Amino acid sequence: MSNFNQERVLSVHHWTDNLVSFTTTRDPSFRFRSGEFTMIGLTFDERPLLRAYSLASAHYENRLEFFAIKVPDGPLTSRLQQLKEGDEIIVSRKATGTLVIDNLEYGRNLYLIGTGTGLAPFLSVIKDPATYLRFKNVALLHGCRRIEDLAYGEMITGKLPSDELVGDFARYQLIYHPTVTRDRFWNCGRITDLIASGKLFSDIELPELDPQHDRVMICGSPALVRDARELLVAKGFIEGNHGEPAQFVFEKEFAERNN
Ligand code: A2P
Repeated sequence: MSNFNQERVLSVHHWTDNLVSFTTTRDPSFRFRSGEFTMIGLTFDERPLLRAYSLASAHYENRLEFFAIKVPDGPLTSRLQQLKEGDEIIVSRKATGTLVIDNLEYGRNLYLIGTGTGLAPFLSVIKDPATYLRFKNVALLHGCRRIEDLAYGEMITGKLPSDELVGDFARYQLIYHPTVTRDRFWNCGRITDLIASGKLFSDIELPELDPQHDRVMICGSPALVRDARELLVAKGFIEGNHGEPAQFVFEKEFAERNN
């Protein structure tokens, strides 16, 4: 049996010249946990061209969703930007990843720090009722260069609160806090700077980060991951892993490493 399922593209949404998301059919046997990634790709010259992508859809949805950056010369992403409804893509039968709540100890607040398309795994995390049953507050921090890059904002603030399954949870427990660094916006600055200065906590009305009570997931560029990790380690946070849950986990956003 092949390690891949053949799926069909159901919809494509171009957020900006650089950002695209798309949905596909989902083989009923494909299982994943919120926050995980899988390998997806296209067959090109009869050879599969595969890359890792986080699952942006909820584990209970009957379609899959992916959020990708378009790299002009990227072997796969340059082709993904041509993707249209009805096209076939291949999706691994397996999903994996560290950004799952089971890799974190129980706590009071869950912070999801995502920059750029590093938001993707957190879209499945915030659509999962288990996230809200585990944590009292869930703060989603999305950092981008430009306002136009703040994809999914409307889904998070407009649609999610009235969602049949997680609407009540999202209304009362989810704090969505977008920030940009290269436009004027109501909230500006790098997430790491907003944490270090304490401005984040006065803005979202939560106490400063505390390893005893707070848990953190990080997903973004290697530089963001490095700096956010340093910040957390300096505050006494311990990194978690499979089989060893602790206080924070991270994953580097994929497109930057292998486009
Ligand atoms: P900045 O505009 O100051 O570089 P990118 O598209 O490069 O992944 O960046 C997405 C967002 O993450 C931008 O707002 C960017 O800010 C920010 N960012 C990049 N590197 C870091 C870092 N080392 N620490 C915190 N934020 C970062």
